[in-house]
Amino acid sequence: MDLSRFSSNIYLNTINKGSVSWSSPSNIALVKYWGKKQTQIPENPSISFTLDNCKTITVLDFVKKETQDDVFSFEVFLDEIPKPEFHPKIETFFNRIEAYLPFLKQFHFTIKTKNTFPHSSGIASSASGMSALALCLVSIEKQLNPNLSETEFIQKASFLARLGSGSACRSLEGDLVVWGTHPEIEGSNDLFGVKYPYKVHDNFKNYQDTILLVDKGEKQVSSTVGHNLMYGHPFASQRFGQAVDNISKIKLILESGDLEAFIALVESEALTLHAMMMTSMPYFILMKPNTLQIINRIWSFREETKLPISFTLDAGANVHVLYPEQYTDDILKFIQDELVAYCQNGHYICDKIGFGAKQL
Ligand code: DP6
Repeated sequence: MDLSRFSSNIYLNTINKGSVSWSSPSNIALVKYWGKKQTQIPENPSISFTLDNCKTITVLDFVKKETQDDVFSFEVFLDEIPKPEFHPKIETFFNRIEAYLPFLKQFHFTIKTKNTFPHSSGIASSASGMSALALCLVSIEKQLNPNLSETEFIQKASFLARLGSGSACRSLEGDLVVWGTHPEIEGSNDLFGVKYPYKVHDNFKNYQDTILLVDKGEKQVSSTVGHNLMYGHPFASQRFGQAVDNISKIKLILESGDLEAFIALVESEALTLHAMMMTSMPYFILMKPNTLQIINRIWSFREETKLPISFTLDAGANVHVLYPEQYTDDILKFIQDELVAYCQNGHYICDKIGFGAKQL
């Protein structure tokens, strides 16, 4: 795909200051992105459920600099507290996206952000945070160039979000988003996420995701480092091929509503992700003993009750418990009776499939 479609040279309007605001959710991958090429191009396609309750709300104030210079000028606040430690990540993001947003160095930005989930919950806030910021920036571009169509808007925001954090490009829309080229998914591409374009069985409408917070601490190995360890990984090419096959399989599953096949695919994806971590060099383990306790409890409960409960994991110790909405009462009772004991301070978050970002 031609990158020049994301460049903007002509702005019709001039503005001196303003404020834009978006809320953007997190997402949980069913088929995982793990391994990337240069410039945030994924090694394999991935698909995720967009979440509903776990989101970032960002207000971006901008004012034209009095003297134009060649530096990015911004400050960041989380919950109204200045966060200089976020600066390097945003500086990197701005450097990556400057070619596509020529106004970036003309303004001073105040980024005011907050998450609906606790900051220290171990839930990745990069997907929701980077997508919210990308959407705010494209909203400014839209003020400069009102001709930007709705499709161009969302594709560009996803394209930019990807340059901030790969999985962030899957957070803008819902309820299922594909990122990465796959021959059987029309429109899928490596540059931005696309709404899953095919029929989805009612079994997957309003799917629930209860996130069990096993370990709220900082991860010992960041996703970026983990992705890089897929270079030269002994199982890399098999893994990337498997993800392609799993997207083909999940397409059939999503259409047929086959919950048993869904469970097998999603759990296998989660464990494969962690198997890649355990077999990279250096190797590492992000699961904790309680992660395994929870997984075993889920398996026994499923065996006993035949309820279609499953789990997935992201790059951490927390467990996402997935189930169709109609089983919520039974499964929440099970979580409260048997799984909460394995959560740090008994904390968990009830979430479900959502429909993407909203301008505020
Ligand atoms: C395990 O999107 O956080 O959650 O592109 O380096 O920012 P960067 O990585 P990131 O990786 C997410 C990995 C994952 C799987 C997934 O969401 O697909």
